[in-house]
Amino acid sequence: MTYKPSRAVSIRAIAAIALLALIVFVAIIAAVLSNSAPGSSEINAQSYAEEVSAALANADTQIGGDLVYELECDLCHLQGDGSVSPLFFGLADVAAERRPPLSAEQYLYEAILFPALHLVEGYSNSMPNNYQDRLSQQDVGHIIAYLLGFKEGVIDP
Ligand code: HEC
Repeated sequence: MTYKPSRAVSIRAIAAIALLALIVFVAIIAAVLSNSAPGSSEINAQSYAEEVSAALANADTQIGGDLVYELECDLCHLQGDGSVSPLFFGLADVAAERRPPLSAEQYLYEAILFPALHLVEGYSNSMPNNYQDRLSQQDVGHIIAYLLGFKEGVIDP
């Protein structure tokens, strides 16, 4: 007869621990999301503006091109038929229209660091989502400068 109350107590304890774990989990997810990127609804003309102008101040197109090959962005974006990943050719001409009110530079910054925030129409969320851990702000600036060279008809800026 004594096992019943003690069992009830332990079920309550387990429920309490589970609830606590859930709260901690939700808090961690919320913290991670709020640190990594602004939500889509918070995007405005000022988004990333400071980071982008700092990153572009000393940007070098040549270094950007080297990074694109070192990081193997080219495997998805410069090879193949463009059906799985959008090709970089002509990107400079459309970047400013991809995600208004972001400028071409701001859009490219977001597309590289937070690809899941906005998908190019017709493509799935398959771009690696960890470049914010692998690239310095300056590296991103170099890459943006390189990508802006992909104007209509340019194969190798
Ligand atoms: C595994 C394949 C893959 C790799 C590697 C990859 N991407 Fe992507 N990328 C994608 C896909 C798929 C999209 C389209 C979905 C989206 O918008 O995230 C995309 C979108 C983009 C866009 C937006 C293009 C547009 O037409 O608007 C840019 C810019 C970009 N990637 C840059 C990069 C850079 C720079 C690297 C390397 C540091 C890289 N990507 C590595 C698959 C890849």
